[in-house]
Amino acid sequence: MKILITAGPTQEPIDPVRYLTNRSSGKMGYALAASAAKRGHQVLLISGPTSLDLPEGVDFLPVVSAADMYQAVESQIAKQDIAIFAAAVADYTPANVSEQKIKKDGDQLTLVLEKTKDILGSARSVMNFTGALVGFAAETENLEENARGKLQRKACDLVVGNDVSRTDIGFDSSENEVLLVYPDRTEGLPKDNKDHLAYHLIELIEDLVDQE
Ligand code: CTP
Repeated sequence: MKILITAGPTQEPIDPVRYLTNRSSGKMGYALAASAAKRGHQVLLISGPTSLDLPEGVDFLPVVSAADMYQAVESQIAKQDIAIFAAAVADYTPANVSEQKIKKDGDQLTLVLEKTKDILGSARSVMNFTGALVGFAAETENLEENARGKLQRKACDLVVGNDVSRTDIGFDSSENEVLLVYPDRTEGLPKDNKDHLAYHLIELIEDLVDQE
């Protein structure tokens, strides 16, 4: 099958030397891409900047900002059977990018931010994607409720939720523990290393297509 995966953080420029970003190593998205390629799928990884090596056998489209990632996904998604949105996309971006380095003139600096486009939220409604759609929800509270809200708002077949307030899992950790939120049920998976978990998630995501 053809699988598109978004991964990593995005970087939103403030001036030539500064940017806003989200906390994300990209490990989960890259592990999913590696597992999907191992399972014989044709994988397109669309990723913001990370320090990770590109998994073997994966096509790669590097991007920087949320707007770049939106465009890349929009141009590729129609060809895919499955789309997995593991990227930590910036929700806001500076309204104006200064052409010159901003000098520290005052004691305070106010940045005006504007909302970025929701890529996952546009997959069905704007890009008319009809394949299996999987989102991620990184939450610090009310994990199941927040993940289910995303599943419904963004018309996903599955949202993979994780609690980022826990220090033993998520972010830079090589382990993760996730909650699988489907339209008709919720299932918890035991804590596992990200590579094993990614392999298992790809198996479960394949089942979404078989059911369609
Ligand atoms: N996502 C995206 N494009 C954005 C923002 C998020 O594709 N501009 C995707 C992420 O890759 C992830 C999911 O949406 O799969 C996470 O959604 P999130 O930003 O947490 O949820 P929202 O419902 O937008 O709301 P909030 O930030 O208020 O939790």
